[in-house]
Amino acid sequence: MDMDFPHKQFQIRVLSCRDALKALKHDVLEGIISAPRSLPPKYFYDETGSRLFDAICKTRHYYLTRTESALLEKHSDDIMAAVQPRACVELGAGSSLKTEFLLSRLVAGSQQATYVPIDVCEEVLIESAGRLLHRYPQLHIEALAGEYLAAIRELPNLEGPVLFVFIGSSIGNFSASESMELLSRVAGIMAPGDAILLGVDRVKNKEVLEQAYDDDEGITAQFNLNVLNVLNTRLQGNFRLENFSHRAVYHETKEQIEMYLVAKQDQRVALEGLGESLQIQAGEAILTEISRKYTRTSIQRLLAGSGLAEHSHFVADDEYFSLVLAQAQE
Ligand code: AVI
Repeated sequence: MDMDFPHKQFQIRVLSCRDALKALKHDVLEGIISAPRSLPPKYFYDETGSRLFDAICKTRHYYLTRTESALLEKHSDDIMAAVQPRACVELGAGSSLKTEFLLSRLVAGSQQATYVPIDVCEEVLIESAGRLLHRYPQLHIEALAGEYLAAIRELPNLEGPVLFVFIGSSIGNFSASESMELLSRVAGIMAPGDAILLGVDRVKNKEVLEQAYDDDEGITAQFNLNVLNVLNTRLQGNFRLENFSHRAVYHETKEQIEMYLVAKQDQRVALEGLGESLQIQAGEAILTEISRKYTRTSIQRLLAGSGLAEHSHFVADDEYFSLVLAQAQE
């Protein structure tokens, strides 16, 4: 691999590729072969999907990124002063753009600062490491390409305190039980003095939410449809993207956005890599993502159910987004 930055500062470990294909086949068999059809959102993030997600973050309707960035800009000093970390471990790091508010303070506070970005997309991790090391040449980056639970088991030995970073509202893409399982695992490996910074999107007006997930430039629609390209490539499928449309609905009682791909016509789709084909009727929907929204109360429930206790809570003036700093319960 060609990298124009010093190798000794950067390592990447790719976790179990063979198992990843097995897991994809299992998820697709379970999820979309029969109705009601669904797919786990992690399959959005091939290289194209990761770039489309970055583009979503810049759209005027997707308020999440700019609101959270403003909170990070305003409160990173307080967060870093409270934890005084020597290492940051980030779940779902993506391009690590917002994390720079924390990393700039991490390198200022420690000679041996280590950053462990975890993401399913290896290409994005490599590209971001190039940018970060250019800016922070003293930073050590030990990237892990893979899923969160697998990566948590494979974390390198780190000198603490460690700040776990799980921002961007990514926790919202997990069901209630999955999110508690994931956060409990993190709480379980936290040493005294470690902390987790959680970025959570708040319950708000239905129209604002639905526009954020159906932007007028059509980028979220492309992002959603791209998951069919991922299946076509990885499972030798013949989904025709033009035969589906993007839909985002806010479900008020479940307090979650639900994203679907809706079939525009009856169609048969083959997935050669699975040895399966599926007959889809016009109007049938594949659930591709949930994005859960929180109240102060449901944030407390999530923390308590995961063995975490709130240390501090930073909220945007319009209450659109919260950054929560928490520690493992004693
Ligand atoms: C990554 N995740 C937090 C995004 C969200 O808001 O749930 C993914 C996304 N889906 C559509 N737009 C953004």
